[in-house]
Amino acid sequence: MSAARRNLGKPVVFFDTTLRDGEQSPGISLNMAEKLEIAHQLVRLGVDVIEAGFPATSPGDFEAVQAIAREVKGAVICGLARCVESDIHTCWEAIKDAERPRIHTFISTSDIHLQHQIKKSRPEVIAITTELVGLCVSLCPGEVEFSAMDATRSDVDFLAEVLQTAIEAGATTINIPDTVGYTLPSEFSALIDTLYEKAPGLAGVVVSVHCHNDLGLAVANSLAAVERGATQVEVAVNGLGERAGNAAIEEVAMALVTRQDIMQRPVNLNTTEIARTSRMVSNLTGYQVQPNKAVVGKNAFAHESGIHQDGVLKERTTYEIMRARDIGLGESDIVLGKHSGRHALRAHLAELGIHLTGAELDEAFRRFKEVADKKKQVTALDLEALATEEIREREDIYSLTRFYVSAGSEIIPTSQVEVFRGGQPRRGKAFSGGSVESIFRAIDNAVGITGKLLDYRVRSVTSGKDSLGEVRVVVEVDGKTYAGQAVSIDVMEASAKAYIRALNNVAQQREASGARPDRVF
Ligand code: KIV
Ligand code: ZN
Repeated sequence: MSAARRNLGKPVVFFDTTLRDGEQSPGISLNMAEKLEIAHQLVRLGVDVIEAGFPATSPGDFEAVQAIAREVKGAVICGLARCVESDIHTCWEAIKDAERPRIHTFISTSDIHLQHQIKKSRPEVIAITTELVGLCVSLCPGEVEFSAMDATRSDVDFLAEVLQTAIEAGATTINIPDTVGYTLPSEFSALIDTLYEKAPGLAGVVVSVHCHNDLGLAVANSLAAVERGATQVEVAVNGLGERAGNAAIEEVAMALVTRQDIMQRPVNLNTTEIARTSRMVSNLTGYQVQPNKAVVGKNAFAHESGIHQDGVLKERTTYEIMRARDIGLGESDIVLGKHSGRHALRAHLAELGIHLTGAELDEAFRRFKEVADKKKQVTALDLEALATEEIREREDIYSLTRFYVSAGSEIIPTSQVEVFRGGQPRRGKAFSGGSVESIFRAIDNAVGITGKLLDYRVRSVTSGKDSLGEVRVVVEVDGKTYAGQAVSIDVMEASAKAYIRALNNVAQQREASGARPDRVF
């Protein structure tokens, strides 16, 4: 086994799967406008490859991947497909208009998956790999990625044989996933070394890793593989992904940047976009970032103890290994007030990378005025939250037009709501034990869908009693979970809108031609 480190000095390729594996996190359901917004932000962050979705899973996924492929420039746009002919053709149809399309196809290689899930023998897996990687190459020459699912629990000789087969069939990127987050860093390093030896074709292709976080080791395992020569890391913003998630892009990137002395693998990301990307993904998915999360948690640069504060005041590096500004933090200055005009709003939004014109700008200005009338200072964080709200609403079927809630210590809370659907008003009212419950029941009546509330959270966007409030709800309907988020200066309004948004997701799913099949993994 060669002890020499491979690919020193070679930049690490960042493959972001927030919109595919990340979107598989329970309760996340992004609409097309939201996916496009995230894809544009990923380009600003500088990722090399965006995995935009899994087109064969539903017409909605297909349309979103196609829209991203047509609109988003500056990164490879990748779609996922099983090693199944129809999946691959559907994937190609969705991505073919991209500046640089990539088909990512996968098949399992572990005996556990072969016996219990795909019910194929090892020779069958080899034959399928040759045939279907070949199909991908015929459609998308030069940009085909092959993944050996559950690689880390596979027999290493068989795994190497499958990878070599995929390379010979024309795959240009070979991905080695730790699908169930099982491996340990030392073991994964050794596996990469062994595979370079047993599958000699790996030396001529991009070697990728895709690590899940079931044991909290996704970032450590990704870095261990990079140290052994892996060229691409598959990551997701805020570590989103199936179960415990994928390796977090912000953690892998900042570990590589901060420990360049050891890693010696350049990072071509624009790290000052990390904080904003994290906030956008958190706002749009409703997955809040834990305060002590590495790099992007709100306490990541906070010093609580007197000794630490004293040290940092004397010399920042006493207790800080990264600068907040390197990830784009510290610029939440006051930007606008109630006398600011449309022009100023448009210019400040553009600084945040949000380009609005026409009716969208009018709507954003109306919202901004509403907030600025009640709140003295509108910050960059407020603007971001309002713009996110505007993106969320673009595809709503039901929208809240007015609501009324009466509550107090001695009265039974009563709510009335009016929602619009296709220009027609629908009304509902309810009395219940609590004011939030009564408004949710009134919405159930108006929309005609009854949701079981699983989770309800409120947080303030900035500090101060006049802060915008952000609400996230998770509801269960027909045994499935749906999330909704909204912001407003009024928490009851944000609650009503978040709940309606979750029911919108139910309605969209019910109305989509062809229900989304259960995820295949
Ligand atoms: O975890 C996994 O194995 C995957 C593959 C499709 C790459 O997500
Ligand atoms: Zn995965």
